[in-house]
Amino acid sequence: MDGITDAPMRALQGLGGAFTYAVSEFIRVSGEPLPKKVFLREVPELAHGGLTPTGLLVQVQILGGDPEPMAVSAANAVRAGATAIDINFGCPAPTVNRNDGGASLLRYPCRIRDIVAAVRGAVPAEIPVSAKLRLGWDTTDAIHENAAMAAEGGASWLTIHARTRVQSYQPPVYWEPIAQVRKSLDIPIIANGDLWTLDDFHRCQDETGCIHFMIGRGALANPELPHQIASELGIAWAASALDTDWERLFRTLLAYTEMYGDRIKPRALMRLKQWLKIAHNHGEFDRFDVLKHAESVDEFFELLAA
Ligand SMILES: Cc1cc2nc3c(=O)[nH]c(=O)nc-3n(C[C@H](O)[C@H](O)[C@H](O)COP(=O)(O)O)c2cc1C
Repeated sequence: MDGITDAPMRALQGLGGAFTYAVSEFIRVSGEPLPKKVFLREVPELAHGGLTPTGLLVQVQILGGDPEPMAVSAANAVRAGATAIDINFGCPAPTVNRNDGGASLLRYPCRIRDIVAAVRGAVPAEIPVSAKLRLGWDTTDAIHENAAMAAEGGASWLTIHARTRVQSYQPPVYWEPIAQVRKSLDIPIIANGDLWTLDDFHRCQDETGCIHFMIGRGALANPELPHQIASELGIAWAASALDTDWERLFRTLLAYTEMYGDRIKPRALMRLKQWLKIAHNHGEFDRFDVLKHAESVDEFFELLAA
């Protein structure tokens, strides 16, 4: 998730022993292809076999509307150490969509196929190339053609966020179309959207019939949830190494931020506040209104202790 799940957060999530892999924040390809050094900067795990220091595998996500620079960028990401590439066709941000990226492609199924095919053709066969889709731009029906086109382009799997672009992040989610796509294609389909509780997970499982799930905001709003879900799926570590006390979570994030050095450190306070906002809006964290005024990381922890 852009602005939140950077390398320190991915390292922290790796402690939970719940995720099979993480996906990087989207890396935008506009105009010229991105060189290897951009990927190493944005996804520092690439210098370590694509793994967080806590052993979580990270997939590189790219976003853009032009097949050629996307393909060359993907090849450069692999040269940098990427072991899997994901293509973002879901981002609803107006600036991204105005520049022919993310969810704007959902109006052009053939272009989705062409972008996936170009990226697929540019990286070695053993590197999975997946696509992240929303249900459509303004109709949920669009997912059928878009998903089929992504599969035709050679996608190894699809992750589907069960909303349209027009919905942005507004409820409801529509899991049912994911079930239809799953039945119509023979590649793995990953269900995504609004898994806030174990009960939501069970309903999503029932409605989609999926065996793969992606969780975003729910993992931040309720840090115990990923391990609970992974345990139900039989893929969790026996015990999570993630201490889910809020203060200890924030201090762990800060420790990883410091480990990754100065380039990321100034973002630490912003990341902490982003996290709190999600925990406040969607979880049970009740001190956001005080903590949002913190002007430094030190002040943040003073206010938290108070
Ligand atoms: C702040 C924010 C940033 C996001 N950035 C990305 C991104 O970079 N790439 C991506 O594929 N999805 C991104 N998403 C979408 C999430 O991956 C996910 O599809 C969406 O939040 C629904 O799942 P959830 O209900 O589990 O959060 C972002 C979502 C949020 C709220």
